[in-house]
Amino acid sequence: MNATQEQLKIKFQQALAAAFGEDYAEADPILVPASNPKFGDYQANISLPLAKKLKQQPRAIAQQIVENLDVLDICEPPEIAGPGFINIRLKTVYLEAQLHSIQTDRRLGVPETNNPQRVVVDFSSPNIAKEMHVGHLRSTIIGDSIARILEFRGHDVLRLNHVGDWGTQFGMLITYLREAYPDALTTANALDIGDLVTFYKKAKQRFDEDEVFQETARQEVVRLQAGAEDTIHAWKLLCEQSRREFQIIYDLLDINIKERGESFYNPFLAGVITDLAESGLLVEDQGAKVVFLEGFTNREGQPLPLIVQKTNGGYNYATTDLAALRYRIEEDKATRLIYVTDSGQANHFAGVFQVARRAGWIPKEVELVHVPFGLVLGEDGKKFKTRSGDTVRLRDLLDEAVVRFRNTLEEKIKEEGRQETEEFKANVAGVAGISAVKYADLSQNRTSNYIFSYDKMLSDKGNTAPYMLYAYARIKSIGRKGNIDFEKLGSEQKIQLREEAELALAKHVLQLSEAIADVEKDLFPNRLCEYLYQLSDKFNKFYEQCPVLKVEEPQRTSRLALCDLTARTLYLGLSLLGIRVVDRM
Ligand code: ARG
Repeated sequence: MNATQEQLKIKFQQALAAAFGEDYAEADPILVPASNPKFGDYQANISLPLAKKLKQQPRAIAQQIVENLDVLDICEPPEIAGPGFINIRLKTVYLEAQLHSIQTDRRLGVPETNNPQRVVVDFSSPNIAKEMHVGHLRSTIIGDSIARILEFRGHDVLRLNHVGDWGTQFGMLITYLREAYPDALTTANALDIGDLVTFYKKAKQRFDEDEVFQETARQEVVRLQAGAEDTIHAWKLLCEQSRREFQIIYDLLDINIKERGESFYNPFLAGVITDLAESGLLVEDQGAKVVFLEGFTNREGQPLPLIVQKTNGGYNYATTDLAALRYRIEEDKATRLIYVTDSGQANHFAGVFQVARRAGWIPKEVELVHVPFGLVLGEDGKKFKTRSGDTVRLRDLLDEAVVRFRNTLEEKIKEEGRQETEEFKANVAGVAGISAVKYADLSQNRTSNYIFSYDKMLSDKGNTAPYMLYAYARIKSIGRKGNIDFEKLGSEQKIQLREEAELALAKHVLQLSEAIADVEKDLFPNRLCEYLYQLSDKFNKFYEQCPVLKVEEPQRTSRLALCDLTARTLYLGLSLLGIRVVDRM
């Protein structure tokens, strides 16, 4: 709710109390944005449910509310429509005053939350010695944006990278490391075994073909779990190497995240089992220790188990997540735990959350949320692959976006007969290429699959990053043409709203807090994208219809100030998506 809705709500509650008694002083007026600007800006729908309760006609109810409504400083006289809706049209002077108050506010009117929480956002989380694939890319982009938005609202966010750095596969990897790189373990230098994905494949091949190798690998797992020094050393080398590769991607994407891998929770795994046993939930099932889940059954209608200790005594992904969950609540003191992974893990998280709840580990103020997302598909609608059928390396994918944008940019520069430096071109292409990949992902409803298309995401038309970046650069260019320094223009210049296009743009600017509050609550960053897309669109319409530099004062300064405010809104909104802008492109 923005400040206006907040104020209107109070006024409505006063009217309700005056009309129907103090019992109604806290009733929700059900105030929603109007479905069509024809009807004004907001609509209050309380009359209908109230009519039932009070056994009167809804229009009569509406009439009584309106008679007691003291809102003329905010809006035109409210109108009753249809069966009993109350339509509110904001007054222009009121909107102008609102604009003025956000103009001078660094946060553009977006309040800090009055309920700051400690939030864990578990995202990205690739696996050591395996490739970081497009699924991890989605998790990285979506998780980062969610974290940014929560941070901006004033929450204390712990960004955690739950990397897969533990498990039996390390037995195989370490055995292969010793075999193929005998020197690696004795030299002090950082290990360079090249591409870890190839390394993984070769290790797997050796494992599959050789029984002696398999046995050695099993012993390595035991040595790793027992903390044998040389094995731990080899494990660390592998982790280091992966970490360096992940970091390249994080640097390209401007991601800040704290690594706290699965191995971190090793000391707490045994405790998970003892406590589950104590709570009476743990059952032995064919040698494994499991908890049977409520509401999850197999095809035969039998309850499904969540395995927490394998037959061989080993722990698994679920055990680690249970330990992590407890740690995040007890030690990190988090009250909101957000997990960003593909939808394929929905059952895993549902199971883990259920077991933790039934074990009594989740205090009632703690919220557990899985934020699932769909698959990234190729343009053929199938799994995203290179032409030769290999999985796409993320670095190549990002580089390609930059190169392609650069080609378009060069063409444009040539067409327009401009002279630009190498530095300029590299910077613009770098920002736009990466932004395009991020935005293409964020602008989708995350639960659906989406088709990865360079052509679409790099286009300057439609709901894309380039479209948004051009809108921003266009505003900056108005400043350059008019020799206006927006900073110097001052953020307190009064904006006057005369034209429809100005009003539409201004009203939209004033809705930023709603868009942000929406993502904060439901964790769908595409809603903020949609808001920004609308903003660019409304700005472009305004710019078509309302001359800025060529109009007389006081309009000229007013419109410049509106341009400036729009640019600042775009800048802030995009920054919350992790997207940078350029002043000129
Ligand atoms: N490493 C896992 C994967 O690549 C994702 C981990 C997600 N986080 C978690 N706490 N389970 O699928």
